[in-house]
Amino acid sequence: MAAMAMQPQLNLPPSPKEEIQPSPADKLGSTMAFTYFFRDEPILTMIGEVVVPALSGSRYLDVWDAGCAMGPEPYSLAITIRERMGKFGFRNVRVFGSDIDESGAFGKTIEAGIYSDEETQRIPRPIFARYFEAHGTAGQYRLVEEIRNTVTFRRHDLLSFAAFREGFGLVVCKNVLLHFTAAERVKVVRMFHQALIPGGFLALEQTQTLPEELKAHFNQVDERVQLFRKRPEGLR
Ligand SMILES: C[S@@+](CC[C@H](N)C(=O)[O-])C[C@H]1O[C@@H](n2cnc3c(N)ncnc32)[C@H](O)[C@@H]1O
Repeated sequence: MAAMAMQPQLNLPPSPKEEIQPSPADKLGSTMAFTYFFRDEPILTMIGEVVVPALSGSRYLDVWDAGCAMGPEPYSLAITIRERMGKFGFRNVRVFGSDIDESGAFGKTIEAGIYSDEETQRIPRPIFARYFEAHGTAGQYRLVEEIRNTVTFRRHDLLSFAAFREGFGLVVCKNVLLHFTAAERVKVVRMFHQALIPGGFLALEQTQTLPEELKAHFNQVDERVQLFRKRPEGLR
């Protein structure tokens, strides 16, 4: 695996004990869709410091967050990219969050962009202050319009093995593949490879590795995180 020369400072990911656990009041009563903002800071750091500079020469940066649940992850990606790019470059960024969404409620939640104290507590405070406004009852916050306008939701089943579009500079798929069989994981990652532009990036969670069959088609960007860059040649 070729490691890049650049070595951003990474905060270690929280241990499983430190991870925020779903409360009984979890909106859907389902731990499957549980998530929160800035859940994986090391990957966000690498996206800000490696992915954004590598792709900022392109006219558009399209991002696919596959298995995005109710929005904290695609919004964390949008905030990270906005922080790095500034207002001008960020106008050409689109973040597509997709999920099988068995509740049928994720699209509306993401469109509203309103989240609780519990979901937002890991966001570094200066970033929280820049991108959230108090909303309605105490402990509820709304993302600013610039960020809300960048993220759109698609209902999509990864096990269809067909992407809803291609041309992504970055695909993020975290805490979803572990629910699939090994054969399904190969087909899903193959779909991601096809949906990426040459030189595009794929991010997985810390405990997920690339299927052996597909390793030759990506370079791992940094051994400390599961971030891979698509090699220019086609997938046979
Ligand atoms: C634990 S959440 C992960 C949320 C977010 N990616 C994160 O890491 O914080 C898993 C999500 O995967 C979605 N999911 C499960 N099977 C799926 C499928 N076949 N296609 C698309 N999404 C799926 C679930 O609906 C759920 O929202």
